[in-house]
Amino acid sequence: METTYLVTGGAGFIGSNFILYLLAHHENIRIINVDKLTYAGNLANLASVESDDRYMFRRMDICDRSAVRDLFFEFDIDYVVNFAAESHVDRSINDPEIFVRTNVLGTVSLLDAAREAWRVGDDKYGDRRFLQVSTDEVYGSLGPSGFFSEDTPLDPHSPYSASKASADLLVKAYGDTYNFPVLITRCSNNYGPFQFPEKLIPLMINNALHHKHLPVYGDGLNVRDWLYVEDHCKAIDMVLSNGVVGEVYNVGGHNERTNIFIVEKIVEECSKAIGDAEISKSLIEYVPDRKGHDRRYGIDPKKINDDLGWWPETNFEEGIVKTIQWYIENRAWVKQITSGEYQNNYVQQYDQEKIV
Ligand code: NAD
Ligand code: TYD
Repeated sequence: METTYLVTGGAGFIGSNFILYLLAHHENIRIINVDKLTYAGNLANLASVESDDRYMFRRMDICDRSAVRDLFFEFDIDYVVNFAAESHVDRSINDPEIFVRTNVLGTVSLLDAAREAWRVGDDKYGDRRFLQVSTDEVYGSLGPSGFFSEDTPLDPHSPYSASKASADLLVKAYGDTYNFPVLITRCSNNYGPFQFPEKLIPLMINNALHHKHLPVYGDGLNVRDWLYVEDHCKAIDMVLSNGVVGEVYNVGGHNERTNIFIVEKIVEECSKAIGDAEISKSLIEYVPDRKGHDRRYGIDPKKINDDLGWWPETNFEEGIVKTIQWYIENRAWVKQITSGEYQNNYVQQYDQEKIV
């Protein structure tokens, strides 16, 4: 029987990679991609599957409760995978409200529509699942040692992570209160193709390729735990099929790196890839630190390894080279999106000249 996926935020970075992953790995599926197409949503990411009969797109705000409800009655949805979100910490520091709206109220709108359509109170949900795509940032910041486990208390610091933690608690509450079939995944920092160049890795690649300054916040020694996006997609696929309802799964592959290591690696690999000696460490510029900047994230992936057999396939050294190559080959994609609002936000954030 055909499985119908509702993928929200499918025109964004991870959502579009997930749709491409599903179409490449499953035959008998139908995917409905629902996306508001904010600055971060880009249908060009999905150009290669536009004419695939298994895929369709609806432009929709997940906060539009009546449109979302109608959608659940129009299609017999088996799996909801909720990627739709405002996702950038710096933007959340400048303008928290939209994060609460989309990340919290949008999630509740989806939960309510699914609950009504799936008749959850009557235990009619069967194999249906609502998977909330969350982040390790809900756990807050680590010291120099230790890792986040699924039992680490939530302690978010930024408006972004606080909105994601709020959504997680509501998802859990729907599971506990209505016996609703929820799953939560909490992943570490992703990188790979189609990431909007406001996040560390694509921003540094794009700036390096244009010989622009590489703005490193604070002392550059904050640590993130990097995961190649395709490995995240595989984890979500596995949690949907084999995860235990009501459980949280942390997703990460022990790839902790300081920000300055990442930036220096990008300089070295970009310079090598296009044979350009002007791409050098002299482009690095230390800039004032992010407010409330979390020092270190690190995931303990034991549960998803042991229970579901998930393990990442792409190590960082390989993944970063593939990612740089992708950005070099897809300069037109970057150029198309780095205009308009992106430019304004960049100038406001870094008080610097525009990038090309
Ligand atoms: P993104 O910003 O690239 O994409 C978000 C998508 O959601 C965009 O296509 C946007 O148009 C859409 N969207 C925003 N508001 C919407 C609304 N109201 N209605 C419908 N669509 C809306 O984000 P991403 O990096 O792909 O992250 C996807 C999800 O994964 C988010 O929930 C994020 O919290 C989570 N996550 C991201 C990372 C990461 O490293 N990027 C790590 C862990 C978890
Ligand atoms: P980011 O990609 O925004 O992800 P998150 O804050 O969700 O982890 O940032 C990753 C790290 O890189 C974070 O410690 C902040 C830092 N950073 C910079 O130093 N300079 C930048 O221009 C950006 C965007 C991030």
